[in-house]
Amino acid sequence: MSSINVIGGGRLKGETKIQGSKNAALPIIAATVLNKGITILRNCPRILDVFHMINVLKELGCLATWEGNTLIMDTSNVTSTKVSESSVQKMRSSILFLGALLGRYHEVSIAYPGGCSIGNRPIDYHLDSIKKMNVNQEFLGEDKGIIHCNTDKIIGTDIFLKFPSVGATQNVILTAVLAKGVTRIFNAAREPEVMELCNFLMEAGARICGKGTSYIEIEGVGNLHDVEYTLSPDRIVAGTYMAAVAAAGGDVVLLDTPVGQIESVIKVLEKIGCKIKTSDEYIKICCNRKPLPYDMLKTQPYPGFPTDMQSQLMTVLSLSDGKSTIIEEIFESRYQNAYELKKMGAKITIEKAQKKAVISGVKHLEGAKVIAHDLRAGAALVIAGIAAQGATIVKEATSIERGYEDICRDLNNLGASVRYCSDNIQ
Ligand code: UD1
Repeated sequence: MSSINVIGGGRLKGETKIQGSKNAALPIIAATVLNKGITILRNCPRILDVFHMINVLKELGCLATWEGNTLIMDTSNVTSTKVSESSVQKMRSSILFLGALLGRYHEVSIAYPGGCSIGNRPIDYHLDSIKKMNVNQEFLGEDKGIIHCNTDKIIGTDIFLKFPSVGATQNVILTAVLAKGVTRIFNAAREPEVMELCNFLMEAGARICGKGTSYIEIEGVGNLHDVEYTLSPDRIVAGTYMAAVAAAGGDVVLLDTPVGQIESVIKVLEKIGCKIKTSDEYIKICCNRKPLPYDMLKTQPYPGFPTDMQSQLMTVLSLSDGKSTIIEEIFESRYQNAYELKKMGAKITIEKAQKKAVISGVKHLEGAKVIAHDLRAGAALVIAGIAAQGATIVKEATSIERGYEDICRDLNNLGASVRYCSDNIQ
């Protein structure tokens, strides 16, 4: 378990390049199982969540090798259709192997994922939808914690999602790609990572219409073929570094930024006083004053403000010139970071029943020892440390490595003083 030490106080200046997208990479790695052959994935981030998905692939009998940031996967020989309990417990995205293995082999055994630090995270929409596609489901094991699915033939049908769940939309797409007939998803998630999964599958021979909209139609095909695909840059990593500039002040260029995917974040940052210039591939962000407060920031499905940027904005608004309110609409337990920020002097009240955080801006934050409870919360504490006076130690920082290739390298490129160190030398 590692920590991150931050010496705060300076403005940020310089440029850094944004890594490939984690949330696009994970479903695509699961999707490779649908093809008997080779997939070459370029611009793939070397992060713990990706390493974990590779381990699951290997557990299934597949091969994977790296050449720089290119991941080469050979899914010609799948020797098992079982995803172990420990794999699903380590990372929820393993649940995407449900649709992929079912699609190719018509059979899968996978453990039921538990909740995690940000909420309960059920998978009822995934299971209810897949069941409608002529798939039998049994719950096995002592605590009925193993889902076993099988079918003689997956049959395309109409799926109505109660909520535009990203994971459920992706699992249905994965199940439908090699199915018999047409699957139509109503109220599908519109997140860029769903679009990216569709782009990848279409390059590999799938027939999909409506990607990026709330109505997606998938016409099953006989098989997919080998493909080379380049991942988009990571919108949340770009947003995190923009939030760092908003909190600490500075003048920064972010290269390889997916500008079209972070319009909701840009709008909020402009409203609180940041000056932002965009081109097709980079963002220039300049913040010369304390952030202004933000009256009502609600997390919503795309194209609304992303839940994955909520913690980072909480850090920024802690330093604003007044009172702000955040409503977290997606995950019920995503306010743990407020208690960590309070250790640094932030003034935040949580009204759990209303999913609300009320933040009264303070003059400055003070360095402290804090704990990264999840990936984005950890990144938000690193930002708080950069903006704070004095030294901050972010403990349990391994969770940050789940999604950021090297947050220290990137922020040091911008003039911050951030370094990893082992927990046992604290
Ligand atoms: C969510 C985010 C996604 C983010 C990812 C990682 C949204 C809409 N989705 O995707 O942008 O990248 O976390 O942090 O912001 N739900 C159910 N039953 C289900 C599935 C979901 O009740 O079967 C509920 C969840 O509890 C949650 C909401 O639907 O309240 C959204 O979940 P979903 O989009 O599926 O989550 P992820 O796919 O993890």
